Amino acid sequence: MYNSKITGLGFYVPDNIVTNDDLSKMMDTNDEWIQERTGIKQRHWIKEGSNETSSTMGAKAAERAIEKSGLTKDDIDFIIFATLSPDYYFPGCGVQIQDMLEMDTVGALDIRNQCSGFVYALSTADQFIKTGMYKNILVIGSEYHSNGLDKTTRGRGVSVIFGDGAGACVLSRTEDNNKGILSSHLHSQGKYADKLIVTSPSIKHWVPEIINAEEEDISYFPYMDGTFVFKNAVVRFSEVIMEALAANQMQSTDIDLFIPHQANLRIAQYIQHKFKLKDDQVYNNIMNYGNTTAASIIIALSEASEKGLVKENDIVLLAAFGSGFTWGSVLIRW
Ligand code: UT7
Repeated sequence: MYNSKITGLGFYVPDNIVTNDDLSKMMDTNDEWIQERTGIKQRHWIKEGSNETSSTMGAKAAERAIEKSGLTKDDIDFIIFATLSPDYYFPGCGVQIQDMLEMDTVGALDIRNQCSGFVYALSTADQFIKTGMYKNILVIGSEYHSNGLDKTTRGRGVSVIFGDGAGACVLSRTEDNNKGILSSHLHSQGKYADKLIVTSPSIKHWVPEIINAEEEDISYFPYMDGTFVFKNAVVRFSEVIMEALAANQMQSTDIDLFIPHQANLRIAQYIQHKFKLKDDQVYNNIMNYGNTTAASIIIALSEASEKGLVKENDIVLLAAFGSGFTWGSVLIRW
């Protein structure tokens, strides 16, 4: 069995910054409410009319990650792409990356696990490397939320949270068994699928029906029971962190850097407090990017790495919770 370690990181966000004040011109909201309830100050949204999508942003992040890894695209054996906002209903974004980066005909897999998408994607890549099937896997998380949000007062409980962006890493085989991904832990509870969901388009409610829909048909906008999701998030985050620590006989004091999925600063602060983590043990950047779902952890990890906050031998913990419900964690020795 081999181990896998991250050898290159990169992220990309669209230039267009949307502040809370900008949102208050579209809907009945305000900077004070958004900052107090979520910690978000601004997010990046693809400009209307732009050709950018989840796959184009993912391709840019991927190019940066490959460059940082010191490899070339010809060294990549497999692509894993996590998103809830694919360019098409099918095919997925993974094959578009293969084409955009003019890569060899390597396999490409799309992961549909929303906020936990990157954790699921990284864990999946780790398994392919552990068994020896692949040496270098490109793992991408990317989201184009802004075009699918209800930007009226009706949608304010959801729309102010989400941002667009992409992050990527190259996960590579290492023969050093003390380095890289130590363990990953994945869970789901489909019973609560309807608590954070987009129900259309679906095979049950297809596009012609939506086009002719009444204005009050909001089935194609994300629905979230925010309070219920919040309450479950803090419980599941805690469980899956404890699971990762227990599996590796570690304590929270062993964590050098915890990067939670950037869902809400209040969730991250609750977890920080619960595990008695110091400020320099936790990295948050939701203030600047909002919640970028499958991209959030990998954007944060890339940014933290660029700032020199991730050092050799550091214990790095990633954890996520979101729609599905799905949740998971990955523990890494850098
Ligand atoms: O990333 C995937 C997982 N997602 C999450 O983990 C998100 C979890 N949930 C949350 O982060 C929070 O529940 C929210 C940030 C979404 C909402 O915060 P909240 O503290 O749960 O607020 P609420 O939904 O209970 O709403 C409180 C009030 C309501 O008004 P009334 O009924 O008390 O008069 C809402 O209508 O705030 C109102 N409200 C807003 N006001 C101004 C809701 N959204 C807004 C808004 N601006 N954008």
